[in-house]
Amino acid sequence: MRLSHLRALNNSAIMAHIDSTIRHLKDGSEVTLRTGVEEDAPSLLATLSNYISENEGMVWEPDEYRKSEQEIGEWIRTMRENPKEILILATSNNEIIGNIDFHVGARKRIAHVGELGMGMLPAFRSRGLGSLLLDRLIRWAKQVPELEKINLNVISTNERAIGLYRKFGFEEEGRRLREFKYSNGSYADAVLMGKIIRPASVHFGSGTQFETTRPELGK
Ligand SMILES: CC(C)(COP(=O)(O)OP(=O)(O)OC[C@H]1O[C@@H](n2cnc3c(N)ncnc32)[C@H](O)[C@@H]1OP(=O)(O)O)[C@@H](O)C(=O)NCCC(=O)NCCS
Repeated sequence: MRLSHLRALNNSAIMAHIDSTIRHLKDGSEVTLRTGVEEDAPSLLATLSNYISENEGMVWEPDEYRKSEQEIGEWIRTMRENPKEILILATSNNEIIGNIDFHVGARKRIAHVGELGMGMLPAFRSRGLGSLLLDRLIRWAKQVPELEKINLNVISTNERAIGLYRKFGFEEEGRRLREFKYSNGSYADAVLMGKIIRPASVHFGSGTQFETTRPELGK
């Protein structure tokens, strides 16, 4: 057996995965939610390029996103090799229409938290797809024993995204002021949001070396 096949077999035991499921948007349209795999790279690149260039809520200027299929394939592969990371795709008629991805910190002290990113084709917005994707990610994350918190970073003008995150219990934890500067000279802040998904694993009493605000979160 070739080395690459052995490696794939080895990794399949630890790869993050969700079973493929059919869900429905608010208007009854069927969508499939499933784990993204390396073979999705060309279609995912087309979807990402589409919604990033359309420019709602994205960090990139419309003409700035220039990833190759190889880079997207590598991005998917590294996520799949980490059991605490996942790429969930939404498809409709076998076309990738949206995605949500989750990455954890590389260092031990931030390995219990991760950051999500998500987006979808314009035609599917405000139809309930974001809710389906976020709900699936949160349910998956709650089943990964080491994960305790989901973070994200959203542009302050992106009311739709902030509305979605609040609906799922994310709270604003701070802002980076004037983090984004647009080609027309206007600015927006980065809103830092988070959701604790598991009780703290140590007691936050007085006199411990640990310090956090609101230790009751996640209980
Ligand atoms: C932001 C985004 C992921 C939201 O997904 P969506 O499918 O449009 O959202 P949903 O239809 O599931 O709506 C979820 C909730 O968001 C809120 N919401 C929806 N549209 C809203 C709007 N225009 N203003 C404020 N809140 C809004 C509502 O609370 C809604 O819940 P409800 O349906 O129970 O009323 C999606 O619109 C998108 O991909 N936008 C472009 C890329 C992007 O901004 N990505 C996020 C970067 S941080």
